[in-house]
Amino acid sequence: MVRARVLFAVLVLLGCWMLQTTSAHEVQLEEASCSKQFRSDVNITVVAGPGPAGQKGDMGPRGHKGTPGERGETGAPGEQGPVGPTGEKGDTGELGPAGETGTPGVSPPVPTLVAFSVARTTGLTTNWSKKQVTYDDVLSNEGGAYNMTTGKFVTKVGGVYFFTFTGKTSGEYMIHLKKNGKIMVSIREKIRDLVDNQASSNSAILELDVGDEVWVEVFPGAYSLHSNDGRFLTFSGFLISQM
Ligand SMILES: *[C@@H]1O[C@H](CO)[C@@H](O)[C@H](O)[C@H]1NC(C)=O
Ligand SMILES: *[C@@H]1O[C@H](CO)[C@@H](O)[C@H](O)[C@H]1NC(C)=O
Ligand SMILES: *[C@@H]1O[C@H](CO)[C@@H](O)[C@H](O)[C@H]1NC(C)=O
Repeated sequence: MVRARVLFAVLVLLGCWMLQTTSAHEVQLEEASCSKQFRSDVNITVVAGPGPAGQKGDMGPRGHKGTPGERGETGAPGEQGPVGPTGEKGDTGELGPAGETGTPGVSPPVPTLVAFSVARTTGLTTNWSKKQVTYDDVLSNEGGAYNMTTGKFVTKVGGVYFFTFTGKTSGEYMIHLKKNGKIMVSIREKIRDLVDNQASSNSAILELDVGDEVWVEVFPGAYSLHSNDGRFLTFSGFLISQM
């Protein structure tokens, strides 16, 4: 039975080959296969192996250009580049408009001048009752604060003052610079072995209010000071600054 079917199939294949070569119109040719209906109830299909690869065909026509894709997301900013070179100097600008007229200036206040210098052209001998030293020659008296009659400086402008005074021996003496009756500074000299002509000075800076008085006074006792036209005994003072 099996042999019969194999034989039958071989016959069919042979017939199929013959039909393919002789009467092609009766054969349904497909790629590597051949089919033939021999009876109403039997269909024989012969499938052959693939043939050799055909030659490569020509390149087809270029296709249509594709539509552009969507825009991608913006990337992160890059690093800042190096500073560029300095540019050239610009031209001079136009002259600006004139400024407004300023307010009138004011002169600085004239400093108050208080200064005096007085001298004595004669000697002076004192006792317990006569103490005030006066000066008969007024070298200067700016501001008029020195009173020639009393020998006292009377403050008219409050401020800081400088005073100086001198003494010269004719034996022995002690003199004071007094402010309102209080000793500020003093000079003391005493002759030994009959040596004469010793001179000395002292000075002070005093803060004075209006009405304060400054003068030179001899210590109570029998003293003597020497002077002549050489003006060895002097009393001077001036205002340093107002307060
Ligand atoms: C054989 O093939 C014919 C045509 O394709 C089909 O109409 C018929 O039914 C087939 N017969 C059998 C038994 O497969
Ligand atoms: C003191 O000196 C004055 C002036 O020189 C004189 O007038 C007076 O008599 C003297 N007084 C005494 C106590 O010496
Ligand atoms: C000097 O002092 C006397 C006595 O106090 C006074 O009478 C006189 O007016 C004073 N002189 C001046 C210039 O102030």
